[in-house]
Order: sequence, then C-alpha cells, then structure tokens
Amino acid sequence: MKILVTGGAGFIGSHLVGALLERGESVTVIDNFDDFYDPALKRENIRGYRSSENFKLHELDIRDRDGIFRIIRDDPPDVVCHLAAKAGVRPSIEEPLLYQRVNCEGTLNLLEAIKDIGIKNFVFASSSSVYGINSKIPFSEDDPIRYPVSPYASTKRAGELMCFTYSHLYGIPITCLRFFTVYGERGRPEMAVQKFTHLIWEGREVPVYGDGTARRDFTYIGDIINGLVTSVYRPFNYEIINLGGSQTVEVRRLISIIEDRLGKKARIKYLDPAPGDVPVTYADVTKAERLLGYRPEVNIEAGVERYVRWFLARKGVER
Ligand SMILES: NC(=O)c1ccc[n+]([C@@H]2O[C@H](COP(=O)([O-])OP(=O)(O)OC[C@H]3O[C@@H](n4cnc5c(N)ncnc54)[C@H](O)[C@@H]3O)[C@@H](O)[C@H]2O)c1
Repeated sequence: MKILVTGGAGFIGSHLVGALLERGESVTVIDNFDDFYDPALKRENIRGYRSSENFKLHELDIRDRDGIFRIIRDDPPDVVCHLAAKAGVRPSIEEPLLYQRVNCEGTLNLLEAIKDIGIKNFVFASSSSVYGINSKIPFSEDDPIRYPVSPYASTKRAGELMCFTYSHLYGIPITCLRFFTVYGERGRPEMAVQKFTHLIWEGREVPVYGDGTARRDFTYIGDIINGLVTSVYRPFNYEIINLGGSQTVEVRRLISIIEDRLGKKARIKYLDPAPGDVPVTYADVTKAERLLGYRPEVNIEAGVERYVRWFLARKGVER
C-alpha cells in the first residue's frame, strides 16, 4: 500500500513510518521540519529510513494548498495518516492564530485534496486535550466535549469535526485517534518525561506547575504505535477512539520514577498552575480494545526505564 504520513519526521510520525516500512509499505512523508523544537532532531528521527527505496520525503508545509494538491495528484495514496500539527497546550495560548492555521487550515487542505480520490482510510491524530476540564473520569469517546481549555485543544476538536463532515459528505473512511500524553524514545523535548529526565540528569531545577498532584495518563510510544498501525489497516466509516495508557500517574510520582532510574535527585521548583493545563487525563480504552484489539502493555515504570536507557545511551552512558 501507499501510505502518506504527514508529520512523519516528528516523534510519533517517525515511529509510525518505521513500523510501516518494516511491513513493506511504501511511505511518503510530508513534513516542514517546523522549529517548535530542534528540527535537527527530526532529521535524525528519519535518517535511517532515507536509504529505503520505499521511502519518500516532501519538505512541505501543510498550509501550502497547491503543494498538497500536487503531491496527492501526482502520487495518490491509499491511506493518509495525518499527524502534522502544531502540538503543545501552553504555546498555543501565545500563538492561537498559528495553531489555527496549521491545525485547522492544514487539515482542511488535506481533506480537500483527497476527497475525490477514493482513499481507503484517513487517520487523524487528535488529542486527549479535547476533553479539557471534563469532570467525569475516565474519559470516554461518548462524553460531551464542552470544555476544551486551550486553543490547541479547540483546533484538535475542530479537526475531528471537519473529519466527520468530510466522511459524511464524501464517504471517506476516517478514524480520529485521541492520543494521551505519549512518551518514549525520540519523545518531544518539552514534554514531561523527556524534559524532567534531561533536567534531572543535568542537575538543573525542575519546574512543576501546580503542587505535583496533577495526574496524567502517560502512554508509551510502543503502545500508541500498536494502536495506530492497527488503525491504518482497519478503516471505519467514522470513529473517534482513545489511545491511552489507561493508568494515571501523579507528576510528582513520575519525577520519583525518573530519579530512581537515573540515580539522581531532582531539584523541584513548584510554580503556579499553568493556564490551559488540566488536573487529570485518564483514558477509557474499552472502545479501542473492542475495535482495534488495543491493550496498553507498557506501564510507566517499564516505559521510563526504556526511555532513560535510550537517553543515556545517546550520552554514551551504558546501564
Ligand atoms: N505526543 C503526544 O503526547 C500527543 C498527544 C496528543 C496528540 N498528539 C498529536 O499527535 C501528532 C504527532 O505529535 P508528536 O508528539 O509526534 O509531535 P511532533 O511535533 O514531534 O510531530 C509533529 C510533526 O509535524 C510537523 N509539522 C508541524 N507543522 C507542520 C506544517 N505546517 N506542515 C508540515 N509539517 C508540520 C513537525 O515538523 C513535526 O515533525 C500531532 O498531531 C499531535 O498534536 C500528540
């Protein structure tokens, strides 16, 4: 199959590309190597794939409508995995318009470009942040989405709604996967597991928003990729599916797990809670299990262990 992965040089995207190439698929990546974090890390993420004859890269911004149309017209994919986005809750409060343009207009460009080509499946990367300050936990796909509390969350919800519209109008099979705080090898440097590991290792202060009791459903990258790959091969008319770890961990406990694996103490600095942050995320993954056979297998201790081993190996430290 020909699979187009937008954002394929990023954290989740690059793992997905690797998994698809291993299955013998032809993979085309669209990525603009956005500078949200060091683009050199993204180039490194896909370096190993570039020699594969099944791999193609278009360095392009999904806001470039003509460029997107040209790529789809010249080389129509069977499946699209749309992962390219401006990610991150807090920065979206600083630059809401940019998030809207990339996450909403970019998504619309893709949907417009593929609407008539008879695509087999379109998978959209959504986010647990859409649940916002939902008072019911765990979060399930049927919960009303009334309270997204950051521009990022609202753009992801808008993306899901746009996907529904295109699925309805043009009969495109679309699955929106709501990822819950994904971490692991190649993880985004600004996210908790990766950021805390880096700061503790360097002996620098670890800023914690709130009192450390905020709880997150951390999901190991390997589990996300299992769910995502199954979803690529299993189209539905239109579904929204949570992919989470289905286990919540307090931020202060996460820090103590990292301390333990690194053998170093953290110097924690507690800060006021950040606007846009939510007190808890917690995925109900019953639907993912029913539709995708998804079962998270790597708990936080094991996932952090794997991540820290990878982190240290890159620093030349063997454990
Ligand atoms: N990591 C998580 O915990 C998490 C949680 C929920 C949802 N998501 C979603 O999953 C997807 C992948 O996230 P990630 O953590 O791998 O982030 P990432 O930032 O590592 O990957 C996103 C990729 O999209 C690319 N990109 C950004 N803007 C672009 C543009 N205008 N045109 C083309 N490419 C562009 C970036 O260069 C990057 O390679 C995103 O849609 C994100 O919103 C991630």
